[in-house]
Amino acid sequence: MPTQRTRFDAIAIDGPAASGKSTVARILAETLELTMVNSGEMYRAVTLSILQQGADPSAPDEVSRILQELELSCIIDGRASRILVGGKHPGEALRSEQVNTSVSAVAAVPEVRKLLVALQRNLLEHSDLVMEGRDIGSVVFPETPYKIYIEASESVRHRRRAAEGLNDSVGERDRLDRARKTAPLVVADGAVVIDSSEMTIDDVVEHSVGILRDLGWFSRNS
Ligand code: DC
Repeated sequence: MPTQRTRFDAIAIDGPAASGKSTVARILAETLELTMVNSGEMYRAVTLSILQQGADPSAPDEVSRILQELELSCIIDGRASRILVGGKHPGEALRSEQVNTSVSAVAAVPEVRKLLVALQRNLLEHSDLVMEGRDIGSVVFPETPYKIYIEASESVRHRRRAAEGLNDSVGERDRLDRARKTAPLVVADGAVVIDSSEMTIDDVVEHSVGILRDLGWFSRNS
């Protein structure tokens, strides 16, 4: 009889906006057969709900009040997790310009982080994960030895977003994400840094697999 896994492991991938971490996490999830979790989508879903209710995303009290009324859940769909609000995935609106502009203010509210971090940690009950975000190695799974931080110059990241046809103030978001008091964007203790400015996605994936090998991912006792 196959033995039941009693614990799962997480790969943490952090970095600023448009550093390439979502694409790398998605490819790693496919090749290593893990569940990919895009934690930014969760902060975006809360932000979208606040905007849809006509509330002020820069007013922490209003954000906390609406948060309590939201019915948030997270499911695993194939190789990726999906955030649901009231049982539905909010869709493309998550990446709208309005959400881009407001998400950092919402993500700075401690109650929002507390709730979403609990949802994120809960996903590790079910499978091995590759989770990408800003505080995955520092706050969500500080104990994991598998931490990668992907960065790229601001001009390169701007160009990447523009090439996707998206209007995203990546520099401003990073400044806010780095400056907030609760769980700011940092290089987590023990994270290996990759500067992807001059690299292709394939290069970054290959490099990440090499880092994970060095960190012992493939020789875990599972
Ligand atoms: O990864 P993204 O660009 O979709 O994330 C959107 C915003 O969500 C980002 O500007 C800051 C916030 N975020 C966060 O605070 N912590 C995370 N773990 C992930 C995202």
